[in-house]
Amino acid sequence: MGLNIDNRTIFCFDNLEVLRGINTECIDLIYLDPPFNKKKTFTAPIGSSAEGAEFSDIFREKDLKEEWLTDIKEDHYPIHELLSAVKNIEGKQSYNFCYLAYMAIRLMECHRVLKDNGSLYLHCDPTMSHYLKLVLDCIFGEKNFRNEIVWCYRGAGYPKKDFGKRHDIIFRYSITNKYIFNIDEVREEYAEATKERFKHYIGNVREGKDFGQQSLNPKGRHPDDWLQIQPIAPSAKERTGYPTQKPLALLERIIKASSNEGDMVLDPFCGCATTCVASEKLNRQWIGIDVSVKAYELVKIRTEKEVKSLFAQNIEFSTKPPERTDQGVNYRPQKYVYIISHPKHKGFYKVGVASNVKSRLGSYQTGDPERNYKLEYSFFTPDFREIETYIHQKYENNFEWVKGTLEDIKNDIEGFNGAQSR
Ligand SMILES: C[S@@+](CC[C@H](N)C(=O)[O-])C[C@H]1O[C@@H](n2cnc3c(N)ncnc32)[C@H](O)[C@@H]1O
Repeated sequence: MGLNIDNRTIFCFDNLEVLRGINTECIDLIYLDPPFNKKKTFTAPIGSSAEGAEFSDIFREKDLKEEWLTDIKEDHYPIHELLSAVKNIEGKQSYNFCYLAYMAIRLMECHRVLKDNGSLYLHCDPTMSHYLKLVLDCIFGEKNFRNEIVWCYRGAGYPKKDFGKRHDIIFRYSITNKYIFNIDEVREEYAEATKERFKHYIGNVREGKDFGQQSLNPKGRHPDDWLQIQPIAPSAKERTGYPTQKPLALLERIIKASSNEGDMVLDPFCGCATTCVASEKLNRQWIGIDVSVKAYELVKIRTEKEVKSLFAQNIEFSTKPPERTDQGVNYRPQKYVYIISHPKHKGFYKVGVASNVKSRLGSYQTGDPERNYKLEYSFFTPDFREIETYIHQKYENNFEWVKGTLEDIKNDIEGFNGAQSR
């Protein structure tokens, strides 16, 4: 089943709902530049073309939905554990916990919509990068971590008693090892001194290989995991005034490296639509999402002015999330209700919900040096939440543990009204 959204669409809506409405495995590249948890509000200057744009970068308990925490726990138990640890580190009023839950639930959807040769680039800075990498490792798998790209820039103003903060972090992950990497599209120029030293050898290179000491690749040098691209100068033509606008050159580099012409690029936090403009320029398809309507207003102006695109006036605009077409009309998600035992808790059983019971058992085992947890039973059903609640209400319980016999609990799970067999 292909993608259920047209090329050149801007959604003005919460990206979680939009992502949830996108068919599975149909996006080639995702770049996301979310709020960094700077605990302040960003506003576009009056008089700029982005005037009126504003977004809050403060995350509090009231912004958090219980339903996200439940999904995270059921689908990615290690993230649930990580979030609990973050809350313990920070204390009761944990902004970091709220921010990370908000990010994790969105990154889970990003992972689902990417094709198996797809890539994700998450732009952040040292405020949260250390935690975000853990979240990404849980969702994408450590083996699919590809690079931590450091974007270095110069700027005015220095803190009195600290080194100047002059870099952002961009994490690059793939879904599998089949990912696209167009090395020749992003090679860099050799330094003058290097060219001089190797001038007799230039061109003496075997196709596609860099010979370091012996010769220089005529297509340029292998790019490093740090970039020096200047942020947008106040006088730059591409400057819209949109707070946190990223340079087109940065996005062009990412898009060239990890997608091909005609591929679909998605930016779930598209701001003044820099990713969309860069994609249009490079003949990629694109989808942008932002809660601010400025994204739509600016993408039209920018694709016309900066790309001279013939399609600048044919951009779709939607104020509601799409509907998935890769599921039947009466589709209901299913998960496992499981029963897990431990010899130390005789007569008690852990009854819970997980999308993947093996990995849930694995998570429990890692906390038990003797690895004595045992999966007694699991039941795949769309009524997973109702059944879990019913069992916990019916049996005397202590947090996740319920007191009863295995046989009785099993019968109650299977006999639950509306439960369907595997
Ligand atoms: C850091 S800015 C992105 C800037 C962008 N990369 C650019 O070059 O213009 C983050 C954007 O995320 C948007 N945003 C924040 N939360 C959102 C959400 N839940 N859904 C969609 N957009 C959101 C904000 O409105 C803001 O425009």
